[in-house]
Amino acid sequence: MKHIAILTVLTTLIELACIGDLVLSAAPRLLRSGSSERPFGLPQVPAPESNPLTQEKIELGRLLFFEKRLSEDETISCATCHDPKASFSDGKTVSLGIRGFRGRRHTPSLINVAFQPYLFWDGRASSLEDQALAPLRNPAEMGVSAELAVAKLHRLEGYPERFREVFESPITVKNLGQALAAFARTILSGNSAYDRFVAGDGTALTRTALDGLRLFNGKAHCNLCHQGFNFSDGLFHNIGVGWNGKLFQDAGRYEVTGVFRDQGAFKTPTLREVFETGPYMHDGTFASLEAVIDFYDRGGIPNPQLDILIQPLHLNNEEKRALVEFLKSLSGPK
Ligand code: HEC
Ligand code: HEC
Repeated sequence: MKHIAILTVLTTLIELACIGDLVLSAAPRLLRSGSSERPFGLPQVPAPESNPLTQEKIELGRLLFFEKRLSEDETISCATCHDPKASFSDGKTVSLGIRGFRGRRHTPSLINVAFQPYLFWDGRASSLEDQALAPLRNPAEMGVSAELAVAKLHRLEGYPERFREVFESPITVKNLGQALAAFARTILSGNSAYDRFVAGDGTALTRTALDGLRLFNGKAHCNLCHQGFNFSDGLFHNIGVGWNGKLFQDAGRYEVTGVFRDQGAFKTPTLREVFETGPYMHDGTFASLEAVIDFYDRGGIPNPQLDILIQPLHLNNEEKRALVEFLKSLSGPK
């Protein structure tokens, strides 16, 4: 079930910050600073020195994230596509922007995006500060220039004062990006059954999920790419999604590097909250986790650049079920 996934200790949020009647019924937890407030199972959230996380900045970022008036026709905000009720994704195959423009790719969930070394499916951005301005500029998403967005904000009640409080400066393109990035860094998921298991609670995973974990790290070797606490190596791999027998509909990482072997390679996504974030892959081609597992079991889609790690797995039905059950254990408490 699509559900308010986020995740970490919402109650703490309510204790920490009196958010009053702001849009979110389930906000990502606000970080004040430092380690004690991060969700169980995650390391400290990194933020650049030039853009430290503060409560006020995160709060401003949240307002902007939900601000439809930023878009060209004032109908779309970041949250339209990165909907908190759908784990900061949208449940659609590919995204829909202003005037129903179909995007090229599936909207990724923003779960734990603070930890991603590269952003977008093809990794073309590496800082959340820069990235945050891209959807504004994209004619198929929000369709305004960052400069126009700033000009709009100048005219909207409350914003000039808030920016001045947070940045001690008038609204600029740079601090618009910084505020949105600060909010994005608070979209966190941890404290899953898996985290509790790793911390020593032997009963946290069901028997089937535990079988799934063993397969994940063993026979199915998913962990060679989906590795570490965030289940991503942060790198790009060709697993064959989008190959039509002749070419890739979307060249992926190749568009950024121009390196031939990067054709059809996409960023390894996190698997946290994955049960809630379908449909799956950069083109939203699979509706269910079962379909994803069947795909890996077949050895992906063979093509000239297929990653060497993608091979037929010869899983039986029970093993497939166990893998799905394990993936479900990567969601935080609701
Ligand atoms: C029309 C839908 C849409 C809107 C509106 C939108 N996004 Fe996105 N977002 C996407 C899609 C689609 C991608 C993936 C694009 C790609 O990989 O080429 C994406 C990617 C991202 C990423 C990178 C995630 C990752 O895992 O690499 C971040 C961060 C992000 N968006 C934040 C925002 C912010 C902040 C806003 C508002 C200023 C916003 N988005 C508005 C659809 C949208
Ligand atoms: C060679 C590296 C690699 C291996 C091995 C691998 N994956 Fe992936 N995985 C990826 C990449 C890259 C993507 C994104 C591909 C795309 O969008 O075209 C992905 C996507 C996924 C997704 C979709 C997530 C989303 O948000 O859309 C799931 C679920 C997934 N993998 C689970 C698994 C499981 C389970 C295994 C083991 C059976 C596995 N992966 C093995 C690299 C890998």
